[in-house]
Amino acid sequence: MSITEASPVEALSIQNLRIELASGRAARPVLAGVDLVVHKGETVGLVGESGSGKSVTSRAALGMLPDGAKVTGQVLVDGQDILAADKKQLRQIRSHQVAMIYQDPRSGVNPVRRVRQFLVEGLVASGTDKKTALARCASLLESVGIRDPATVLEQYPHQLSGGMLQRIMIAAALSSEPSLLLADEPTTALDVTTQAEVVSILDRRRADTNAAMLFVTHDLDLAAAICERIYVMYAGRVVEHQRTADLFAAPRHPYTRALLASTPRIEPGHAVEAVPGRALSLDESTPGCSFAPRCAHADELCTGGPPPLRQVGAADVACVRAEEMSVR
Ligand SMILES: Nc1ncnc2c1ncn2[C@@H]1O[C@H](COP(=O)(O)OP(=O)(O)O)[C@@H](O)[C@H]1O
Ligand SMILES: [Mg+2]
Repeated sequence: MSITEASPVEALSIQNLRIELASGRAARPVLAGVDLVVHKGETVGLVGESGSGKSVTSRAALGMLPDGAKVTGQVLVDGQDILAADKKQLRQIRSHQVAMIYQDPRSGVNPVRRVRQFLVEGLVASGTDKKTALARCASLLESVGIRDPATVLEQYPHQLSGGMLQRIMIAAALSSEPSLLLADEPTTALDVTTQAEVVSILDRRRADTNAAMLFVTHDLDLAAAICERIYVMYAGRVVEHQRTADLFAAPRHPYTRALLASTPRIEPGHAVEAVPGRALSLDESTPGCSFAPRCAHADELCTGGPPPLRQVGAADVACVRAEEMSVR
């Protein structure tokens, strides 16, 4: 059985998504045929270096696409076709079914609105009447571990720390009980001690509301802490996809192996090695595997067209030499 086989209606189903920027601006597509599925109630990671296409992929689930881009493929949220939706349908989907949490919580708030107004506006937009919304604010803050909601509700964003604001964003995002939550580097802007706290609150609230989550991060270990499966992206393609434990035990793609080796670990004998070279920019394209120029295992097999994603052992992997890469 394929590891993505499941319910007939997925929380998120992306099939063969290809996004090319408006003509002449890039040498390769931003996304070159991405397939990704998040089952209902499941947490899935999307991992890769900066510029690999993670944010473009997650924003596509909200119907937010780069201006003038040529887009083909399919994006379904709860079975609804996002790429075919009109503005009104998209508004409806964004206020009821899908919520996004961004890296910088300050970008999502109006600096001159108190926390109470921010929460009430969100609740009203998703169909709650104002009186009920006002009554729910305090319990929303309590649900994300804020101990003194009465005080915090009267505060302005600049009076709150990044971690506190991100908790408020999590509370707001889940207040409409969306079936899908998109979290794009939600803790990257926070300091390390706050990061773990915010991730655990996010994971707990997601479980409470039974939402599915696409968790976007450049940090494999962070994804491993809460994700059941992980997709690894490189230069606009998914290059590997496995259940989390399998990915760590037997990474098949040389890029995944390099990412794992570049993570500091408290293990005897573990030497940290940066991924060699640099990521392919949008102005560069390669005839074969896009990772080949950085790959220690590349040979002539790797230049004959981009390797398709195929099943090898427990993995979906896009590498012609994947069979040889079974042991870490
Ligand atoms: N609206 C846009 N216009 C032009 N280029 C874009 C746009 N959005 C993303 N890109 C480019 O697409 C590539 C992938 O971006 P992104 O998805 O943000 O990467 P990631 O989130 O993995 O760091 C990057 O090279 C980025 O500069
Ligand atoms: Mg990003």
